[in-house]
Amino acid sequence: MKFLPYGRQEIVSQDIEAVTRVLQSPFITQGPMVEAFESCVARYCGADYAVAVNSATSALHLACLALGVTRGDHVWTSPNTFVASANCARLCGAEIGFVDIDPRTYNLCANALEEKLRITSAQGLPMPKVVVVVHFAGQSCDMDAIANLSDQYGFRIIEDASHAIGARYKEQPVGQCQYSDITVFSFHPVKIITSGEGGIALCNQPRLHERMALLRTHGVQKSSCTQAAPSEPWVYQQDALGLNYRMTDIQAALGVSQMSRLDDYVQARHALASRYDQLLQPLDVTLPFQHADNYSSFHLYPVLVGQSGQGGAGRRNLYTHFHQHGIGVNVHYIPVHTQPYYQAQGHRHGDCPNAEAYYERTISLPIFGSMTFSEQDWVVDVMTDQLTQPLAA
Ligand SMILES: Cc1ncc(COP(=O)(O)O)c(C=O)c1O
Repeated sequence: MKFLPYGRQEIVSQDIEAVTRVLQSPFITQGPMVEAFESCVARYCGADYAVAVNSATSALHLACLALGVTRGDHVWTSPNTFVASANCARLCGAEIGFVDIDPRTYNLCANALEEKLRITSAQGLPMPKVVVVVHFAGQSCDMDAIANLSDQYGFRIIEDASHAIGARYKEQPVGQCQYSDITVFSFHPVKIITSGEGGIALCNQPRLHERMALLRTHGVQKSSCTQAAPSEPWVYQQDALGLNYRMTDIQAALGVSQMSRLDDYVQARHALASRYDQLLQPLDVTLPFQHADNYSSFHLYPVLVGQSGQGGAGRRNLYTHFHQHGIGVNVHYIPVHTQPYYQAQGHRHGDCPNAEAYYERTISLPIFGSMTFSEQDWVVDVMTDQLTQPLAA
């Protein structure tokens, strides 16, 4: 049976040639292509520094470590995200707080953040050291408002922009770090561009750059050893407790090659999104809202089906119907605070009502750079068929 996933990579001959050149070169682990990929992404986004790693999960962990997140600290994030946005701080020993989402954009809500900060401060409870904002589906959060709150309350900001390479906020590329300390992208194959697996952390502060680069490779460096005579050329020195989060040149070559088509992919996703907007108009579904400040990269196209409080039956039936027809729709996301691991940390169902109500009804329709309009028509037909059939007596 024909199968259409909700997202997938496109690999062209230029990508294969780029990867083959690396395979035939002396460097297949971290080497000159990683540096080239870092420069390419930093230049595209207008950021000063980039550290490429083996996943966005690793980049988020490095970002928390570089910002000094440690045991006893508090880090807040959105419940409507993949678990990695919260896990990165747990891996540093921090406690997680969840800030409910805006019911229109499904992003962490700046007003809810303000309210939670005000109450937490008034009650003398621990304030967040870092807030990890997530640009859900490729649409930026309200960064102006969140950066103002950061100035007022003194927390640092990580942008988890795993979904949002190629997006713009107030005309500027996401990744510029104008409103944050560090921005992270993912290059997993369902994302806008891919390096197989991979991630990157962008920043404008040299100290953060140095720290993330050091921790990416065991906390070990060769260039400025203080312990041994510089005349000993084999000397390396461990200055901190780091990890092996390195990206390979094989992955980076694929990344550089894919970067040349990033804008085309985002444009293709926009064309598909506006076509969905038109074709799904007659159906009783809520289409994704786009704020005027944003140019999304449309990593996802989430629609809401059924009504709140109905236990998600409409969504479940539609999901099953799609899969029976070979269409691999998905659900983004089960609210992180409802995961058993986070329940064991004291989080409860009901903590973030907007994220929970959204989760009950959401379904992500297929959207990716190489998807054709006829594949999209098929999705719309299958969906229309399910949502317009008379209810069983
Ligand atoms: C919002 C978000 N953050 C982080 C990640 C982790 O990305 P990676 O798979 O590159 O580690 C994902 C992956 O899906 C994600 O969607």
